[in-house]
Amino acid sequence: MTDTIPRPFVPMSEPDIGPAERAAVLAVLDGKTLALGPRLAAFEDRLAARVGARHGIAVNSGTAALHLCLLAAGVGPEDVVVTTPFSFVASANCILYTGARPLFVDVDPVTLTLDPERLERAAQTVGRSGRRVKAVLPVHVFGEAADMDAILAVAERHGLAVIEDACEAIGGAYKGRPLGTLGDAGAFAFYPNKQMTTGEGGMIVTDDARWDALARSLRNQGRDVFDEWLAHTRLGYNYRLDEMSAALGLAQVERLDEILAKRGRVARWYHERLDAMEGVARPRPSAWTTRESWFVYVVRLADLATRAHVMRALAERGIPSRPYFPPIHLQPFYRADFGFREGMFPIAEAAGETCLALPFFGTMTEQQVDTVCGALREVLAAFRPARPGRSRVTAGPTATATAGASGAAGAAEAARA
Ligand SMILES: Cc1ncc(COP(=O)(O)O)c(C=O)c1O
Repeated sequence: MTDTIPRPFVPMSEPDIGPAERAAVLAVLDGKTLALGPRLAAFEDRLAARVGARHGIAVNSGTAALHLCLLAAGVGPEDVVVTTPFSFVASANCILYTGARPLFVDVDPVTLTLDPERLERAAQTVGRSGRRVKAVLPVHVFGEAADMDAILAVAERHGLAVIEDACEAIGGAYKGRPLGTLGDAGAFAFYPNKQMTTGEGGMIVTDDARWDALARSLRNQGRDVFDEWLAHTRLGYNYRLDEMSAALGLAQVERLDEILAKRGRVARWYHERLDAMEGVARPRPSAWTTRESWFVYVVRLADLATRAHVMRALAERGIPSRPYFPPIHLQPFYRADFGFREGMFPIAEAAGETCLALPFFGTMTEQQVDTVCGALREVLAAFRPARPGRSRVTAGPTATATAGASGAAGAAEAARA
């Protein structure tokens, strides 16, 4: 067999698993209880305490966590939930699962998180039509905090439930307050590319005892705490997390500070190299993000053609990269089922064309960062656009996203509800 993987190869992401995690999982396997055992409760208590929430409800994915938060908020058919189109598809799919309709509003051009002013306008427009926005689901995308104070103020004015999609942001803080604990409930995700992992897994955190009880029942086939095993008070799901995953999660939470510090160090290595590089805008967390939690390291390039070239040329050198995120409303079934099309959310779309996630993980070495940045410099220098287009970013240390800041999508937002 020929070696078809070009060198040097750098993985896109890698979990940070140490001896404590290995021992914890093996200890479960050496025992008899593989599900609904003591590790589940310990993981929930530890993670809830870590973020300062009263309750933690572990589930088997971040998507399940979001779904149950929406059900706990009473979201159902006929309801409208506002969210951002610039996220992983699960942020909006969870709304569809309930029968409700996602109402996308465009993002802030700098943070790429849900724009509170557009949220206000959407809530007013829907209100005038006689319907009501039931909830808002802001996403702390790439670990960058959404402007929660402004979002909470709009939510309060219009009586919206607030569900934070903190799936990419565990351990981060907004103005000193832990992400995931600012609204009615927050959802975390633990897929292996996340800051901490349980393999597959997720967690709801909330201070509301009623939401806690309902989410616990819903994840466990609708059983209430007093129900017998074969008694089901309500329609529920099997969203339970097994003991091996819970044990892994518990060991990872114990190391969360160390894990986040390692990721922060890798991000700084990238910053140092990219600050001086032409044609790349590096990520710049907002001042309100008082504690960073790096999920991915996403740069912005000049335009779609440049990004396509860079992805291809990096891949030829054995360096993977990902176009985080193709906007949700342009996913094939959102176009087909709801009539979304290009031009409705120009800021999210511009970001979707120019953002590129580079290899990033806490165990990445400085040499690997050098390899990626050296290759990036080379492939950018070699790029000759067929037809030079208008640049979407201003390269250099003061660069921020500049594309599509107009409110052209205002009408489309409400019309899609
Ligand atoms: C923003 C966001 N929301 C939701 C999810 C869903 O999490 P999971 O893949 O664990 O279902 C993810 C995970 O990739 C995510 O990045």
